[in-house]
Amino acid sequence: MEYTSLGSTDVRISRIGLGTWQFSDAWGVKDYERAKSIISRALELGVNFIDTAMVYGRGLSEEFIGRALKELGVKRDDVVIATKIPGELLSPSDIPKAVDRSLRRLQVEYVDLLLIHWPPCWHNIPTCTYMRALERLVNLGRVAYLGLSDYPVELAEAARTCLSRTDIEVLQVRFNLVERWAEEEHIPYAEENNMTVMAWSPLAKGALSGKYTLEDLGKFQDLRVNEPVFHPDNYARILDLVKVLREIGGRYEKTPAQVALNWLLQYSDLIVPIPGARSPEQVVENAGSTGWRLSYEDWRRIDEISRGIRVSYAIW
Ligand SMILES: NC(=O)c1ccc[n+]([C@@H]2O[C@H](COP(=O)([O-])OP(=O)(O)OC[C@H]3O[C@@H](n4cnc5c(N)ncnc54)[C@H](OP(=O)(O)O)[C@@H]3O)[C@@H](O)[C@H]2O)c1
Repeated sequence: MEYTSLGSTDVRISRIGLGTWQFSDAWGVKDYERAKSIISRALELGVNFIDTAMVYGRGLSEEFIGRALKELGVKRDDVVIATKIPGELLSPSDIPKAVDRSLRRLQVEYVDLLLIHWPPCWHNIPTCTYMRALERLVNLGRVAYLGLSDYPVELAEAARTCLSRTDIEVLQVRFNLVERWAEEEHIPYAEENNMTVMAWSPLAKGALSGKYTLEDLGKFQDLRVNEPVFHPDNYARILDLVKVLREIGGRYEKTPAQVALNWLLQYSDLIVPIPGARSPEQVVENAGSTGWRLSYEDWRRIDEISRGIRVSYAIW
């Protein structure tokens, strides 16, 4: 495994994290033993950075992580836990309550990274009101560092001005070979400010593995039923890219998923993809995207082709 630092801190995180939205109704991994085997395999491979959120399975994902880490006897310092508080829970009275529950589920005294999952779109809570309440939790030792997920850069900048003793160390954004909007503003902003960019859906929800045919698309029984990347108009073009990923990967003895993740790793050393896994085998494959590099020519060829693909979300 390769490692890097979390933002400007000296916290060491693996270059590939483990996404755990999978432990929820949305993705369907609701069997604890299966979740534990996924977490356990990740840790064995040196993946020490785990991404979860309060809303994943309404606490189920955090609960599974807490229980598994305890049962596996993982030392607190050997794992870096990121969780997220949703925009709906950002009133100054809800923040400590929500975080306390999260810590209880995770069975820890503090989280390493607390991200705001999305801005408080419907509650009109002023930015500095909730940012100061979050900073209070840092001062009190319940949270080590703060991050923002799915924030426009302008709002991230405004949020940072509310903080006095700490800063935003991480931006979490959607970023994969066929959904590249983050490179317009978020990645340059993170690079200017030395922030980690956690790339969510780095495999475009599995589309970049290419394991589904166009005929398989009607068979999904999870959140992908309505997922734009799996709309036939979008997916047919993604399969063209997968063909190239497969061809290039063949020369390195790597799978399309590994090539897709390696491409992200090489895009910027601040990018940390957090692929979700539904089995320990997928964890192994995803960890195998580290420890090697695509050649410049191969990286550029993938870049060119992927730029020609823009997923359309206007599918209904
Ligand atoms: N901040 C946010 O708003 C936000 C939003 C979304 C996700 N996230 C975080 O990011 C993580 C990852 O995103 P994601 O789950 O949306 O998408 P993803 O990581 O792009 O795709 C995950 C899915 O791809 C398939 N897969 C994984 N590894 C594979 C491999 N090696 N070969 C073939 N298929 C593979 C699995 O599904 P199948 O096996 O069923 O195909 C898995 O459930 C989440 O778990 C969550 O922690 C954050």
